[in-house]
Amino acid sequence: MSSNIITFDGPSGVGKGTIAMMVAEKFGYKYLDSGSLYRSLALKLYEKNNNFDTVLENLDQWTNDIIIDFKYIKGQKFQIFVNGEDYSEKIRTEQVAILASKIAKDKRARDMLEVYQRNYLDGSGLVADGRDMGTKVFREANIKFYLTASVEKRAERRLNQLKDQGISANLPNLIHKLMLRDKADMERINSPLMPAKDAVIIDTSDISVSEVFDKTINIINKRKRKIYE
Ligand code: C5P
Repeated sequence: MSSNIITFDGPSGVGKGTIAMMVAEKFGYKYLDSGSLYRSLALKLYEKNNNFDTVLENLDQWTNDIIIDFKYIKGQKFQIFVNGEDYSEKIRTEQVAILASKIAKDKRARDMLEVYQRNYLDGSGLVADGRDMGTKVFREANIKFYLTASVEKRAERRLNQLKDQGISANLPNLIHKLMLRDKADMERINSPLMPAKDAVIIDTSDISVSEVFDKTINIINKRKRKIYE
C-alpha cells in the first residue's frame, strides 16, 4: 500500500482531470493523465497507417520506433511528446478519443503503456487519472476514487467546453458518442472500466467542481490521518 498515490477513475466527462489536477496541486504531487498516453499512441499509429486492423495484427512492429515522453507542468498542464513532437493539443479531439478506445482494447498496447505509467513513479506523490488506475496500474494506491455522472450531464459539459472553444456540436450526437465509448471501455476484456473494490464512488451529476474537490480533500485528509495514526 502506498499513501502517496491517489487514483481517479471513471468515464469521460465526469471531471476527473480537473479534480485530479486540483488535488495534485493541493498536495504538491505529480499528475498523470493516462488517457493522453492512449490518445497519443493511437494518433501516432493512425498517422503511420489509418487501417487499425493491419496495425493490430503486427502491433509490436508498428510500435517499436515510438517513444513517448510526458511531464506535468505544475499547475498548468500535462504535456506529451511522441518521438519529440508535441502531441498535447492535437490529441484532444473526439476522433482521437475514439481511436484511443480502439487501441485500448489491445493487451499489448496496454502493457506497453503500463510500463510508461509505472516508470513515472519516482517516490514523490502521484495523482493518476484514467480508467484502470485503481484496478490495475496503481493497485497499491491507498486512496482511490471513482467518479461517475449521468451521460446527459457529461454530454452537456462537453457541449459547453466545445462552445467555449467556438466549436459547434449537438447534444444527442455527443450523448451517442459518449455512450459508445462507455460501452467499449466497460465491456472490453482487458482492464475494463469499473470501480476498484476499495474505491470511493462520487456522483458528480449535480454537484459543482468545488464541491467535488472539497469532498475528495476531506476523504484524503481523513485517510491520511488514519494512516499516520
Ligand atoms: O481519458 P481519455 O478520454 O483521454 O481517454 C481516452 C480513451 O483512452 C478512453 O476512452 C479509454 O478507451 C482509453 N483509456 C484507457 N485506460 C486509461 C486511460 C484511457 O483504456 N487508463
